[in-house]
Amino acid sequence: MTQKSFPITAEFIAAANTTAEQYAQDYERSVESPEATNAFWAERAELIDWMKKPTIISNVNYDLDDFRIKWYEDGELNISVNCLDRHLKTNPYKPAIIWEGDHPSLHKIISFKELHAEVCRLGNAMRKLGVKKGDRVTLYMPMIPEAMVGMLACTRIGAVHSVVFGGFSAESLGNRIIDSQSKIVITADEGLRGNKHNPLKVNVDRALDMEGTDSVEKVIVVHRTGNSIPMSGRRDVWYHSLIAGEQEQCEPEVMNSEDPLFLLYTSGSTGKPKGVLHTTGGYITYALSTFRDVFDIKDDDVYWCTADVGWVTGHTYSTYGPLANGTTTVVFEGVPEYPTWARIGHIIDKHKITVLYTAPTAIRSMMKEGDTFVRESDRSSLRLLGTVGEPINPEAWDWYYDVVGGGRCPIVDTWWQTETGGILLAPIPGTVALKPGAAMNPLYGIIPQVIDTDDTALEGPAEGNLVISNSWPGQMRTIYHDHERFLETYFTEYPGYYFTGDGVQRDEDGHYWITGRVDDVLNVSGHRLGTAEVESAVDAHPSTVEAAVVGMPHDIRGVGIAAFIILSIGEVASDQLKAELNRHVRTEIGPIANLDAIYVVEALPKTRSGKIMRRILRNIAAGQYVGLGDLSTLADSSVINKIIDVVKAER
Ligand code: WT7
Repeated sequence: MTQKSFPITAEFIAAANTTAEQYAQDYERSVESPEATNAFWAERAELIDWMKKPTIISNVNYDLDDFRIKWYEDGELNISVNCLDRHLKTNPYKPAIIWEGDHPSLHKIISFKELHAEVCRLGNAMRKLGVKKGDRVTLYMPMIPEAMVGMLACTRIGAVHSVVFGGFSAESLGNRIIDSQSKIVITADEGLRGNKHNPLKVNVDRALDMEGTDSVEKVIVVHRTGNSIPMSGRRDVWYHSLIAGEQEQCEPEVMNSEDPLFLLYTSGSTGKPKGVLHTTGGYITYALSTFRDVFDIKDDDVYWCTADVGWVTGHTYSTYGPLANGTTTVVFEGVPEYPTWARIGHIIDKHKITVLYTAPTAIRSMMKEGDTFVRESDRSSLRLLGTVGEPINPEAWDWYYDVVGGGRCPIVDTWWQTETGGILLAPIPGTVALKPGAAMNPLYGIIPQVIDTDDTALEGPAEGNLVISNSWPGQMRTIYHDHERFLETYFTEYPGYYFTGDGVQRDEDGHYWITGRVDDVLNVSGHRLGTAEVESAVDAHPSTVEAAVVGMPHDIRGVGIAAFIILSIGEVASDQLKAELNRHVRTEIGPIANLDAIYVVEALPKTRSGKIMRRILRNIAAGQYVGLGDLSTLADSSVINKIIDVVKAER
């Protein structure tokens, strides 16, 4: 925790949507009793266009015997109507999406009217293909407007979308299709990032060769690069020919507030990725409301979130939050280094971006290239910066503040999770001096607690695990097909609380500092990977017997992956074998699962009951060879020195 804090400029404060006093008052009022919290969320629900206004605000119980989470349960609405139709009355020609292509020569501006028409066409077309309310649709897309069109068209007709990140492998895609039993897959011929082609359609074909994918009846393919790809006659259809003859009006499906909206798969500490389920009324109210609070949104903002639609940030803060508010959202297909590291700055100038929301890993990778690239642009349009995904180190914070923001723009460090649907902790801009590395304050209606291992919620300055003692409308409702795992993961360890899986410190001013995951989830470049998932990919290779995977410090990605591996009999450690193992894991999961270090060892540190002691491996991988803590539960402590020797020899 640094002592430094950055006051907000008088100019920003004068124009901000809220003040320090107002935040303090509104926050207190929003949490002073469960009734007051309901009153707050009833007020926020007024910002939504309901087909039937809810009369019941919340119905929540964290007791495992009688567990439920419901928000606005008798309300009815349609999300696409809230993101599109209602803006047609006020501002139809305002840009809804500004799309910046991979190559700087390519961009497109799509008004709310145009976006509405396209969503309706695709909605009609999918209805004709037999997609009904509740059916699942998988999207495996590049960052092109059709990704948002696909999501919104699902909401138009009541289908549940499951977006799978385009960087995931065919195998990962296939597993998610099997779990969701999707009827339709929407994809593109290829993705294009940094002038590199990503064979999306070929991956879909391979995924659909997997057993258990028979639910898929049609694959809708967007024409992006035009390179030739195999199209199978009965199953595959081109997006443009599919929607060509369709009407620009499409009757919106009437959705109950608690009807499923989307699934998004994310890694846990054990087993396969879990399908996080979000529902309709609570999610959109939370997305709309937090977006305008946290980003201090004004009508003329041009807002750019750099997250891919494959992650929850791309759902809540590239798509639903901005569009529900009628805010222009910028969608970028490419990468920060193409054609040069000056690209981000050039995009800011080109589209006069006012609010930029990105991740520490992106900031660190730009910072590493020096200031000159960023200084090619003037960035005078920017007024606010945001960060998300992992703790931001003070050096990266300073650089973001001084160089990218010209020392003028507050930084909102936003803490949240796929599970929370939207931001829970952040400094509402203009209300508090900023501390680099702190997510600062709870948003309205949120009651965070610091809890210790004895289940005691601590008062005042404290360090422990972060739990939330109440519910909020954007909270996930279940793990698809696995409600037991949902209760077990989030509500069992600390009865009566939602357990986040993160460690936290609360300082003497009551501000929150996230310290990182306390479970076996790795946060690589702000993307979640379970150690169990990576281990099973390594184990699946014929040359290995067993593997233990831990996170290790990494300059750019925040957390890198270290694998400790036992080879099969007859196999010999070599650079070639290690490269082959890394290739294998990247193919199984996707390129984000890069093994930064591979240590071939004779044995793993295990307890007498056979559990791998990852804590010890984490320390060793970080270069800490002494003070390894309590080793008394190890079955054979001699393995430790042998592992240290291997690691030292490789460094
Ligand atoms: C995990 C959630 C929510 C969108 C992106 C990631 C970490 C997230 C912060 C932050 C420190 C953060 C936590 C959390 N995290 N934001 N501002 N400061 N850590 O979503 O993939 O569900 O990952 O990301 O560890 O639990 P996700």
